[in-house]
Amino acid sequence: MSYLELKDLKKRYTHNGPLIVDNMNLSIEKGEFIVFLGPSGCGKTTTIRMISGLEEVSGGDILIDGESILQKKPKDRGVSMIFQSYAIWPHMTVFDNIAYPLKLQKIKKDEIRQRVQKAAEATGIEALLDRYPGQMSGGQRQRVAVSRAIVIKPKIFLMDEPLSNLDAKLRVTMRTELKSIHNKENSTTIFVTHDQAEAMSLADRIIVMYQGKIEQIGTPMEVYRNSATKFVASFIGTPPTNFFNVIIEKADDAYTAISSGLNFAIPRSLNDALKPYTGKEIVMGVRPEFIDVSLKMQKTEGYLCDTEIEFVEPQGSFSILIAHVGETETKIVTSEHMEIPVNTKVSLNVKDELVMFFDPDTGQRIR
Ligand SMILES: Nc1ncnc2c1ncn2[C@@H]1O[C@H](COP(=O)(O)OP(=O)(O)OP(=O)(O)O)[C@@H](O)[C@H]1O
Ligand SMILES: [Mg+2]
Repeated sequence: MSYLELKDLKKRYTHNGPLIVDNMNLSIEKGEFIVFLGPSGCGKTTTIRMISGLEEVSGGDILIDGESILQKKPKDRGVSMIFQSYAIWPHMTVFDNIAYPLKLQKIKKDEIRQRVQKAAEATGIEALLDRYPGQMSGGQRQRVAVSRAIVIKPKIFLMDEPLSNLDAKLRVTMRTELKSIHNKENSTTIFVTHDQAEAMSLADRIIVMYQGKIEQIGTPMEVYRNSATKFVASFIGTPPTNFFNVIIEKADDAYTAISSGLNFAIPRSLNDALKPYTGKEIVMGVRPEFIDVSLKMQKTEGYLCDTEIEFVEPQGSFSILIAHVGETETKIVTSEHMEIPVNTKVSLNVKDELVMFFDPDTGQRIR
């Protein structure tokens, strides 16, 4: 039995409307930091609002510690939600903002004072308890919202894009802080974002969502290296995975992926999986950082094609190169900064055979 379980969870906003959350099944263990990652409109907010009780479910069940919480009011579910907009009250001091949920629970004054103090210390705002939100920066307001969420010692934290109103630098600082608060409080957290870099750096496990469905559940490295679908391969990683439409051809016992621009000898480990696709067009995906550029036109086992470098985008410690593979504009991330004159002829080789194939109809990884 897991700590939090979603079972066949469904949501429609109107009677005959589309399934916004489409049969979601998920088990979360105590102490995990889970990130819901997906594009705008895929149902992330809807899902955590159902867990918090702010939204009714259309089907399925939600269990905490083995017990269904669907009949419980939001305040009795033991979950704390932090919103993108912070939702702190401008007419109350920081102290009163943090104390608010405890007052609702009719907790004694002494205990409230102690717990507010501790929650403020956890986020480093204990010196600001008498201030009003209007006198504080965005980052400080966010800390008030976090303190108010931890003060009730929730079973589960639900955070809906809590950092998106902060500037880029503060986002990075605050995300490290949120993770360290999570570790210190030994809490269980679901964090919603559409920022894959944020997801990768925070999550124990990432739940990649698309159109109301879970595409993949895995550690950051699993979803990156072992993407289960074309969508996951395209959504995780920057710049995104390069995709090529290729025909699978078989000669003797060797398979080749062929298009107008490339001719790739497929690793033998994929022979069985690719057999049914012989003669058919499928999608090949290669991450920009898994392509090696050979200025000496050397061809290794992962040889893809010869081409010309069209653009170089320096990024400081590395560069992004742009070249065409057949019709497809292809990005390559170099492991160190490379200054290459435009129009230089090069060979491209896939490193360590890190190549992915996807079914063109279902988008599922072929392996
Ligand atoms: N109250 C509502 N009534 C009808 N449709 C809604 C309602 N709330 C959300 N939706 C629709 O449900 C879908 C999912 O919305 P949701 O807010 O869960 O997405 P999200 O993944 O959180 O997106 P974002 O990253 O933009 O916040 C969207 O198509 C949205 O328009
Ligand atoms: Mg949302």
